[in-house]
Amino acid sequence: MVIKKKTIKKTARKMRMKGIILAGGTGSRLWPLTDQTSKQMLPVGRVPMIFHPLNVLVKAGIKDILIITSPQHSGNFVNMLEPLLRPYGISIFSSVQQIPAGLPEAFTIGAPFIGGDNVTMILGDNIFEDVDSIATAIKKFRKGGCIFAKEVPDPERFGVATVNSKGVVTNIVEKPLKPESNLAITGAYIYDNHVIKVAQDLTPSDRGEFEIVDLHNHYLQKGTLQLHKINGEWLDAGTIESWHEANVLAIEKGFVEKFDPILLEALEKGFRRNKAIGKAQLQAYQGIE
Ligand code: TTP
Repeated sequence: MVIKKKTIKKTARKMRMKGIILAGGTGSRLWPLTDQTSKQMLPVGRVPMIFHPLNVLVKAGIKDILIITSPQHSGNFVNMLEPLLRPYGISIFSSVQQIPAGLPEAFTIGAPFIGGDNVTMILGDNIFEDVDSIATAIKKFRKGGCIFAKEVPDPERFGVATVNSKGVVTNIVEKPLKPESNLAITGAYIYDNHVIKVAQDLTPSDRGEFEIVDLHNHYLQKGTLQLHKINGEWLDAGTIESWHEANVLAIEKGFVEKFDPILLEALEKGFRRNKAIGKAQLQAYQGIE
């Protein structure tokens, strides 16, 4: 039999997007709140903090999500989230980071989970208002890297990026004395599959940690690091002040009520299973005043 060339042409496998929430760390700045509980289980609005980065990934349509935790909290997140999200075809996985050795470990610990796909990683204590534009950027992503930055009045406290007119990052400086821009790099990152190899080849910095800036720099030097500016509020809820602020904003601005419909429905079903629910609380989740 003669097989026509056309029919044996291989169809390239479409890259999928995996999601990772990095929710380990020690949470020492929130002690004693974090003495027995993980920081990312503390409430922000009416839900544990982790629901906020989770919402970004769910809004982006990601179906496979890995939660990386410290050893003492392993299992907690997956036990809470897996039954809620399984009915919607969203799989939740869990891995442990033995010690908080730096953000790039998300990609070495997560390598078997990521497989041959692209990956979005969000820090478990980062709260974004501009969820929709991050989710859109995740959906549109094809290759290279993409970081999310917010214009801030005090860039010297953050990693600061400079971009050219095409939105390509040309420079990144950690906590610069004289910032070249006011674009602070937030805790949401998208990378193509090469990130696994790049993360595996990193060496620890002088402070003994793997540094996310080294990953960014790899893509920056290749000219493939894009920057996506976000609007609205952004904070990491890592100090008592910022955690309080996150709660005030979440309630005032209705962050939970604006969650993806899947998450809202999952929460509502969870509440229904819990007999203690009152009508008012249920209506609040349904966005009914
Ligand atoms: P950080 O706030 O930098 O660290 P932390 O959570 O341990 O808090 P503290 O400094 O008060 O002790 O971490 C930001 C986020 O990244 C947070 O969600 C924890 C996570 N993280 C890890 O999971 N592993 C790591 O190695 C690091 C550095 C952070």
